[in-house]
Amino acid sequence: MEGGRVLTVLLMVLLLVGLADSSPPPEPVVCAHGTSDCTISNAYGSFPDRTVCRAANAIFPRTEKELVAAVAAAVAAKRKVKVATKHSHSFPKLACPGGRDGTIISTERLNRVVSVDVAKGLMTVESGMVLRDLIQAAAEAGLALPHSPYWSGLTIGGLLATGAHGSSLKGKGGAVHEYVVGMRMVTPAPESQGFAVVRELCADHPDLDAAKVSLGVLGVVSQVTLALEPMFKRSVTFVTRNDSDMAEQAVVWGGLHEFGDMAWLPEQRNVIYRKDDRMAIMSVGNGLNDYLAMRSSPTADLISGRVMHELLEKKNNTVARCKEAPTSASLFEKAAYGFTNNGSLFMGYPVVGFQHRIQASGSCLDSPEDALLTTCPWDPRIRGTFFYNNAYSIALSRVSAFIADMKQLRNKNPKAFCGIDAGLGILLRYIKASSAYLGKPEDSVDFDITYYRSYTKGEPNPYSGVLDELQQMALHKYGAIPHWGKNRNFAFEGVIAKYPKAGKFLEVKGRYDPNGIFSSEWSDQVLGINGSPIIVEKGCAIEGLCVCSEDSHCAPEQGYYYRPGKVYTEARVCSLQPI
Ligand SMILES: Cc1cc2nc3c(=O)[nH]c(=O)nc-3n(C[C@H](O)[C@H](O)[C@H](O)COP(=O)(O)OP(=O)(O)OC[C@H]3O[C@@H](n4cnc5c(N)ncnc54)[C@H](O)[C@@H]3O)c2cc1C
Ligand SMILES: *[C@@H]1O[C@H](CO)[C@@H](O)[C@H](O)[C@H]1NC(C)=O
Ligand SMILES: *[C@@H]1O[C@H](CO)[C@@H](O)[C@H](O)[C@H]1NC(C)=O
Ligand SMILES: *[C@@H]1O[C@H](CO)[C@@H](O)[C@H](O)[C@H]1NC(C)=O
Repeated sequence: MEGGRVLTVLLMVLLLVGLADSSPPPEPVVCAHGTSDCTISNAYGSFPDRTVCRAANAIFPRTEKELVAAVAAAVAAKRKVKVATKHSHSFPKLACPGGRDGTIISTERLNRVVSVDVAKGLMTVESGMVLRDLIQAAAEAGLALPHSPYWSGLTIGGLLATGAHGSSLKGKGGAVHEYVVGMRMVTPAPESQGFAVVRELCADHPDLDAAKVSLGVLGVVSQVTLALEPMFKRSVTFVTRNDSDMAEQAVVWGGLHEFGDMAWLPEQRNVIYRKDDRMAIMSVGNGLNDYLAMRSSPTADLISGRVMHELLEKKNNTVARCKEAPTSASLFEKAAYGFTNNGSLFMGYPVVGFQHRIQASGSCLDSPEDALLTTCPWDPRIRGTFFYNNAYSIALSRVSAFIADMKQLRNKNPKAFCGIDAGLGILLRYIKASSAYLGKPEDSVDFDITYYRSYTKGEPNPYSGVLDELQQMALHKYGAIPHWGKNRNFAFEGVIAKYPKAGKFLEVKGRYDPNGIFSSEWSDQVLGINGSPIIVEKGCAIEGLCVCSEDSHCAPEQGYYYRPGKVYTEARVCSLQPI
């Protein structure tokens, strides 16, 4: 109870601080000697298996010519290669080069606009360009990227590689790769061709369906050409309603609103519906989306907030946890989630504004160095927020049945979902079927869940078994497909069999990179080439590295044993047993 109140105060401080200056996120590539003896991490400073990823050297090309030279040098030296981006936001070990003496090629300095053709609505950018800058550059030419992820700190090369998306079933849908009409990619080549070549993939090139969502295993994307639209406005309204008819609504909502999504708060039995539609450019309004959870926050508050959070997640604090959750949800609601009608004040819905001010946010990226006084909430240099982010998509035709099953699970363990509610619930977003070989095979709903992760390896959590049951049910009963850039290891077991066109992708990979220079242990595991993403060891199910098949995969010494699921009885989860 005490904890709830303190956290509430902290949240209010966070809300009031708003646009404070902050330290930009740290550099994911760190080298011990100049550009050699390097490590690469992700933006949270931790991969799912908590190991450090090493490389022999790192290269930071500024031009396509330097990029070709970098690939050629690595190929000539028979080194494995991986591309790193400015911030490296993917959760799984995608950015880690194969072996221990590979090469990292960073796209940090490949961040310019190459050309804009306003009449045709085409914009070509270098692959390391950060989404925020891309959206801004397009807007300056009167153009809009119609759909994007909600966080603007990603790069175009990185977000395409993992099939990243916003939410839409209209037109070509919510995934950014649907708007790609050209790419230039640097791939390995025989010595006679100088060890590396540039491949130009135009709109009708059959290999574009492999290159658009490539996990970075085909080569380095140098440039991307996007088909944009004339700038437009959007009208956004958030409405909270009970979840009685949610299973039916989830199927139709994406057809009713071009940018619609839904956030489900299972314990509170509420759904926050996002009514979000296109408006004519002449509509009145200069709204801004500065989403609360993506603003910079004072480090001191993040650290004390985490201390509180850790207390709330302990075994015997469920009551406090569940008391606190509605408070944080209602604070977010009162603050309109960070939306304002004119850039500084929220006066009421709808919020109407230009696409480039509404589609994504990330003000915590934007600030000068301030010696870590304020940061993005997940900055790994401080002991602040630390979380799992699982996301998986389910075919639209199965979504109602899945939600009905989730509700059964919730009804059996409502308190297990208090932590999810406090983090603003399970986000449902719409994605259309794609021609990309590693894109979604069917029209789908993506379910995105963010929740507490312990800093201590193997430390169990009272209700994580329920969340694991939910995910196993999604993956195995409903054929869910995990987001390539999120999730923990166990979600990716056998994933490639869920892609009907995987064979075509592997055929292109064989032609572009026959020696697997761009392959890594992780990419071989998830593409079904070699090995499994599952790691079996003591406590592995607690960490999401395996599905448990004996007590030692849980934490029997702390009372967590291997048990079947409660609703999906085929699930195998770590469950806290009363003594
Ligand atoms: C706060 C937050 C919010 C998010 N919101 C969303 C969202 O709304 N929707 C969504 O779908 N996802 C979202 N994500 C996940 C995100 O989209 C993916 O993790 C994305 O791939 C990360 O992009 P990145 O530029 O950081 O790439 P990285 O994670 O650095 O790279 C991803 C992969 O692409 C490869 N790669 C990168 N650039 C190139 C290149 N030029 N050539 C070849 N390979 C390349 C890398 O080697 C790596 O394998 C979010 C993540 C965070 C942290
Ligand atoms: C949910 O809301 C509807 C009206 O929108 C109402 O008719 C219904 O009784 C509510 N259900 C519960 C369980 O509160
Ligand atoms: C339960 O909470 C009390 C304090 O309220 C604490 O002393 C005790 O260690 C906790 N027990 C467990 C098992 O977490
Ligand atoms: C927004 O509107 C409020 C109230 O009308 C006004 O005080 C404020 O200055 C406006 N902000 C901007 C950025 O226009």
